Parts: sequence; C-alpha cells; structure tokens
Amino acid sequence: GRIRHYRWEVKYEYKSPDCYKKLVIAINGRTPGPTIEAEQNDTVMVELKNSLLTENVAIHWHGIRQIGTPWFDGTEGVTQCPILPGDTFVYKFVVDRPGTYLYHAHYGMQREAGLYGLIRVALPPGVSEPFQYNYDRSIILNDWYHKSTHEQATGLSSLDFSWVGEPQATDRQLDRSLSALSFQIEGHNMTVVETDGHYVEPFVVKNLFIYSGETYSVLITANQDPSRNYWAVTNVVSRSSTTPNGLAIFNYYPNHPRRSPPTVPPAGPVWNDGDSRLAQSLAIRARQGYIHPPPQTSDRVIVMLNTQNKINGHVRWSVNKVSYNLPHTPYLIALKHKLGHVFDQTPPPNGYDFVNYDISIKQENVSATSSNSIYRLEFNSIVDVILQNANTMEANKSETHPWHLHGHDFWVMGYGKGKFDMYSDPQKYNLVDPIMKNTVAVQPYGWTAMRFRADNPGVWAFHCHIESHFYMGMGVVFEEGIDNVGELPTSIMGCGDTRGGTFHRP
Ligand code: C2O
Ligand code: CU
Repeated sequence: GRIRHYRWEVKYEYKSPDCYKKLVIAINGRTPGPTIEAEQNDTVMVELKNSLLTENVAIHWHGIRQIGTPWFDGTEGVTQCPILPGDTFVYKFVVDRPGTYLYHAHYGMQREAGLYGLIRVALPPGVSEPFQYNYDRSIILNDWYHKSTHEQATGLSSLDFSWVGEPQATDRQLDRSLSALSFQIEGHNMTVVETDGHYVEPFVVKNLFIYSGETYSVLITANQDPSRNYWAVTNVVSRSSTTPNGLAIFNYYPNHPRRSPPTVPPAGPVWNDGDSRLAQSLAIRARQGYIHPPPQTSDRVIVMLNTQNKINGHVRWSVNKVSYNLPHTPYLIALKHKLGHVFDQTPPPNGYDFVNYDISIKQENVSATSSNSIYRLEFNSIVDVILQNANTMEANKSETHPWHLHGHDFWVMGYGKGKFDMYSDPQKYNLVDPIMKNTVAVQPYGWTAMRFRADNPGVWAFHCHIESHFYMGMGVVFEEGIDNVGELPTSIMGCGDTRGGTFHRP
C-alpha cells in the first residue's frame, strides 16, 4: 500500500451551518473535517496540530481495528495521553479493509463541537464489489446543538443536572450523536448492501434507521420523473423530539440542484415505533459468499445491564451499576509498564442480579458506584457480551443505546425483547450468517447479544456512542494480549504517571 499523508490543524472557529453562529472545532477550517481517501492496505498518516489554544485533543479512527498499532486508536485515557495545545501528534495506521468509516474527537465532548469526518477505504484495483452503481456519494448525518460543548458538559456533570436536551438541527450530512435517525429519499426505495465495512445480503427499505457510530451503504435507482427534484429527509426517532427534520435535495439533472421539490417533504416514521427498528436489525445478515461464520460457542459471557443512576446526587449512566470514569494515566501505558496503582484492579462485575432486578420498572434505589476498573480478557478467547436494557430513572422510559467496540468487529448473535434468558435465548442465536459490525444498538427494554474474538493485543474501549452517555459513565474497557503489544511510542505519553518519559511508581 501507499502512504496517505494528511496535515491537519485543529482550531476553534465561528460557523453557522444552520444559520446560528457558534464556535465549532474545525479541521483546516472545515466541519465536518476533510474526508480521508485511501485504498485497502494503505498507510494513513495524519499529522495533527492542536491549535485549540486552551484545550487538549485526541482523535479516534472509528471502525479501523489498529492491528499492531493499538497506541494510535486515539482514545484519550485508554490508549494515549491527550495532545496538548500547540503540540503536533502523528497518527499512523493501516486501513486493512474497504468500507466507509468515521473519525472523531475522543476527548471530553469535542465530537459534538464538530470534530469529525469520514474515512473512505476503496477496494484495490481489479477487485470489485458484489453490486454495481454509477456514482457514489457519502453523507454524514449528525446532531447539531446551539449550546457550546462546555456548557453541555458542565450541565451534565453538575449537581443541578441539566440535560443536553434535543438537538437544534439534524444536519444533512450517518448519525453520529444523540439521536437515532431515520433517513429516506422521497419516492425512492433503498437497497441496503453494506454496514460497518461488511457486505449485507441485500434488502429493500423505504427508510433506513441509523444509530450513532454506524455506517451503511445503500443503492438507489434514479428511475422517477426526471423533471423535478426530490426531498431527502432525516428525522429523529426513538425520542419524542422537537428537532426539525433535516432536509436535503435529491437532484435529477438538469434541474437546478437548489430547485425545491413541488411536494411537502415526507413525514418520517413515528418516533416510538420500536418494532420497525427491530425489524430492520433482524433483516441484516451477512452476504452469501462473504460470510464469516461465528465460533459456535464462547469461552466467557458478560451481561451488561444498562441503567441510569445517581452517584452523590449526580446523574450517571452505568453498566451493572458501575459508572465508568477514565484514569489519569492511560491503561495501555499503565499495563505495558506495570503501573498497576493507576487504576482500580478489582474486575468489574460479569453480570447483575438477574433474579431480583426488574428491568421494566423504575427502581427504588438508583444508587451506583463509579470505577475505572477494566475487564481483562484471555488472549484469543471468544467473548459473548449481552447488552441488557432497562428502565431509566423516569417511569415508563427506556432509551436506545448504540454500543461501539474499539479494535474489533463482532458478530451480532441476536436481539430480543425483555430480559435476556441465559438458558433459552442463546438457543435462538444466528450461528449461520450473522453480520459483523463495530456498532450495534440495544433497543428500549430489549437485549442485544454479540460475540467477538479477543485477538487484538491492546486495550479497547466499548461504550455507548451517544457522546453525552459515555461522558456520563456509559462504557467499559477490555484488555487482551498486553504482553504481545510492541514497544509503545513515547509520543502517547506525558500525562499522569508517565510525565517526562519516566514512569512513576509509588
Ligand atoms: Cu466512535 Cu469510542 O467511538
Ligand atoms: Cu446511551
């Protein structure tokens, strides 16, 4: 492969993408940032200059597994120290699989401020996709808030809790943030052919449901009346929301691209129609000829109960009643250099009280604890994770959470409603042609089961991709094969107990 060299300057700038002027974080003056274009097996090198003046930064390459380069995953507190103002950090990694991926800030809540973009990895010459098309276009769907990221973050972590609320706009640009979205193009069906870098057995939808951190490829045939344009619409689902629909024009040449369609934009599906969303998830299978059969059994099962809790009066999200917080010294460095004192060494819980916990009701006791402890996985073992959703702290309310795993793709083994049953539900797993993904949603009051092989030496975050939920503790970290991790670059060090290139041991 070739080297694709990018030079980026990250900086605050005033922008008004929806006619409301606010500070955004731009890369080389743009938000979304520049698209990284590469071919399979190329090396991407991004020289990142932090010109934020008063803020640190780190960028994660979402969907890129970082095989052999776990230190360039870009997860502040997990794989690297933050990049200080004025500093330049060089990320260098191989894009080993074709597909469309994302990159975004992984520090505080900077993603929300506009620090994200696309990574497009093309097939090598002479190899073709199992479908045909004439043109391709990439679209990023995102939420857009008028409040500054700092104001939002402060609201979320204050005793006088203030929720980020509903986004003021959903920009026309795959979903990245708070909302589950529906995307449709007036008068045109879409054939889903790929998701998260894996081919899908094609299926047709009128609207595509998409969750933060997911990517999809769809085929659209331009076979409608060419004398007009059509609406492309995104709208918020899974929450009752006042966010205006995101609108764009699907242009038929030679109409002017800004000529409004003569129709009223189509209304999206009703926000609380969870069954259609589940139906789409169930329709997704690996494409014939491209199936990676899953291991038929697993070595370990971890059940993760997703709940909203209170800790010392603060609203938090937790997994098995433990709300996650990041350590000051990144795990990757701590584990490799045996700085065991920098994080809590007690393993987090493997499950919750299945017998007594009623997931369908608001709990009497909403307290939880917080910790930065991690799951240590046996290298090369097969791990099942069951995401179990539950009621929040409000009666009759459960939210959708899209979970993203760093460093791996996992098989989506199954989905279900209600409480996962350890004995009967695994019998219904798809052991034949499950899709592999890096992000999957767990629906309100439901469960999602996934399986992966712990074969990528490193330390990897697994978290809800709603930025404010992760910020409020909805995540965990896995370690595997730390002894097989090569020598760490010193560029990732400098914070916590790794200051000045020396390791501080108590
Ligand atoms: Cu795209 Cu840790 O996330
Ligand atoms: Cu969430």
